[in-house]
Amino acid sequence: MGWEPDRYLQFSDERLQPAADLLNRIPLARPVHVVDLGCGAGNVTRLLAQRWPEADITGLDSSPEMLERARRVLPSARFELAGVEHWEPDDALDLLFSNAALHWVDDHEALFPRLLDSLSAGGVLAVQMPGNFDAPSHRLIRELAGTTAWADRIGPRRMGAVLPMADYQRILAPRCTRLHLWETTYWQAMSGPAPVLDWLQGTTLIPYLAPLDDAARADFLTELGSRLTEAYPPDSSGTTLFPFRRIFILAQR
Ligand SMILES: C[S@@+](CC[C@H](N)C(=O)[O-])C[C@H]1O[C@@H](n2cnc3c(N)ncnc32)[C@H](O)[C@@H]1O
Repeated sequence: MGWEPDRYLQFSDERLQPAADLLNRIPLARPVHVVDLGCGAGNVTRLLAQRWPEADITGLDSSPEMLERARRVLPSARFELAGVEHWEPDDALDLLFSNAALHWVDDHEALFPRLLDSLSAGGVLAVQMPGNFDAPSHRLIRELAGTTAWADRIGPRRMGAVLPMADYQRILAPRCTRLHLWETTYWQAMSGPAPVLDWLQGTTLIPYLAPLDDAARADFLTELGSRLTEAYPPDSSGTTLFPFRRIFILAQR
């Protein structure tokens, strides 16, 4: 079980908003070489193409399913199947954009300087990542997966990680001319019987569900769903608030 474009895009408005907010702050008039790292189903790549229709845009992702959708969404762009870990661009880049993807990649101490090095002078690295790994949603997944009933079946899993904000300042500031770091908590108002569980199945839960067969997966989701509903109860109108902290990095070389 890997990335499923339809499930991921079930909350496309909420998932797109941080990318749009980051895009609004990019101080480039006419970038030529643009890469969307971890481009997924291409809906953010499409925003890049709308803002800079003349740019040469490449989307890169390690999921064939997501790329297949991206190629349909934006036939004018080039899409490459590759992991960020081993990727090296052919040309110096004017813009390296990444929305909700780099937390899946290890070793940010080495990764971020390498990404900055791939930019031309004045080029921009623009990154958004979740910063909510200690939120009840994520804590409950780790707790349940660590119980004796599940630990052997699921094993050690990775839900992604980011560094403390001050570490990005330390790593990036000496290497760039301008650096802006900020965070936003999006208070997402969601509807439906289990919206937080549905949201998590599109992303964070993917590695946890992958080793389970259909029956075990259903049991795990039932148990997690009831814990999530307790942590995020719907109000009397049926609305569930799911606050989601996100961190932003805008670095200009
Ligand atoms: C949450 S989705 C975000 C997709 C897109 N950027 C968006 O905002 O809609 C994360 C994407 O990162 C990709 N990804 C995860 N690890 C990756 C890696 N090591 N290299 C390249 N892509 C990766 C996944 O395949 C997935 O499509």
